[in-house]
Amino acid sequence: MRLAMIGVGYVGLVSGACFAQFGVHVTAVDKDLQKIKDLQGGKIPIYEPGLEALVQQGLQSGCLTFTDNLQDALKDADAVFIAVGTPSRRGDGHADLSYVFAAAEEVAENLSQPVVLVTKSTVPVGTGRRILEIVEKKRPDLKIDVASNPEFLREGSAIEDFMRPDRVVVGAETENAREVLRELYRPLNLLETPIVFTNLETAELIKYAANGFLATKIAFINEISDVCEASGADVQAVSKAIGLDKRIGAKFLHVGPGYGGSCFPKDTLALVKTAQDLQCPLKIVEAVVASNDARKESMVDKIEALFNGDLTGKTIGVLGVTFKPNTDDMRESPSLTILPLLQKKGVHLKAYDPAGMTEAQKFLSEISWENNVYDALKDVDAALILTEWNEFRALDFERMSQIMKTPLLIDFRNIYTLDEMKKTPFTYVSLGRALVTEQN
Ligand code: UGA
Repeated sequence: MRLAMIGVGYVGLVSGACFAQFGVHVTAVDKDLQKIKDLQGGKIPIYEPGLEALVQQGLQSGCLTFTDNLQDALKDADAVFIAVGTPSRRGDGHADLSYVFAAAEEVAENLSQPVVLVTKSTVPVGTGRRILEIVEKKRPDLKIDVASNPEFLREGSAIEDFMRPDRVVVGAETENAREVLRELYRPLNLLETPIVFTNLETAELIKYAANGFLATKIAFINEISDVCEASGADVQAVSKAIGLDKRIGAKFLHVGPGYGGSCFPKDTLALVKTAQDLQCPLKIVEAVVASNDARKESMVDKIEALFNGDLTGKTIGVLGVTFKPNTDDMRESPSLTILPLLQKKGVHLKAYDPAGMTEAQKFLSEISWENNVYDALKDVDAALILTEWNEFRALDFERMSQIMKTPLLIDFRNIYTLDEMKKTPFTYVSLGRALVTEQN
């Protein structure tokens, strides 16, 4: 089986490297020559645990090659995957499909054999049908089957998600397309991974419905966390107990400063827009989007309240700026809302992130970037955890209390238990739980 992967962004690169590991011959193509050169040398442009080793294995086995020449990539391919970006369109929040359609046109123009053309990029319902029209118009002489195969990879654990998925979703309307996709994912038969076959529209909507639902779970628990704070309840116990109900499920009920990343914010917005266009507004998802935006800002009010409403001249040491751990991705990270708002209120910021500092410097200014946790916490009025990196899970509180001006830890990821914090000299402020002070 030979596969061409169009685009070596996050999704294209992870999927390409994983298919190569399955023994598929993958040629990944991208217009960015520098990226291709780096990848040919086994160097990857993003931070994703295990990915560099997987790419290098693919290169060594000969199953994975990189090129900037589309015709080379398409030669003898049985399937062509489109994995280009679908960013939010400026101004209206719709997914920008120009790269997807341009890729479909170019592929159709340059093909000389029948293929299955698969969309991996996250695209609104109806896109696959438009791609089919494009390729049929461009190449009436060639049989190009169009399919949709959305990805459900989480940054930071993308390889595991690809290799051991809960399910694979395939929107395909010909037996040939179904057969090619079934063959590509054959190694997953061992794990008895369900493959859900649907039509194009259903597969496209499954992706948005999944992300919309997961975002809803997060926004829901975040709002419940506020009620916990106001009432004396404990959100960790609420999450655990409702999660034990199998109808609800334990995952994605972890309270935080609001969801971020390249997917949930963009996809919830695009889903809302698509539904509005179809005259069936998704009021729940609209509320989730608004709730999450407000959530990030409310984190600043919470910090301000700890300083009796006056943050002028305070110094805060920030631990973690990426939208989640195990990535250097800063897209839509809550830190991008919270930190500039703190600065506006007169706070001086020091910060440390294990992988995201280079990326963060493109978006955040006037922050003293430090080399480690303890440099970031020297002489600060408070420590603020924004990302739950493992490195922050075993802080040396003795050392911190010696170097910080005030022993105040604000933890927006609820990394620590209240019991363990009671043993430290710290005032500990977390989300949806009681305040720990020296007195209790
Ligand atoms: C998400 C989905 O989880 C993937 O299934 C999907 O394939 C991907 O989007 C995509 O559409 O490409 P990702 O954005 O990498 O993956 O990261 P998540 O682990 O889902 O986290 C998203 C955000 O939600 C993060 O900011 C995280 O901190 C937050 N979150 C997550 C919470 O605040 N609480 C939780 O319980 C879980």
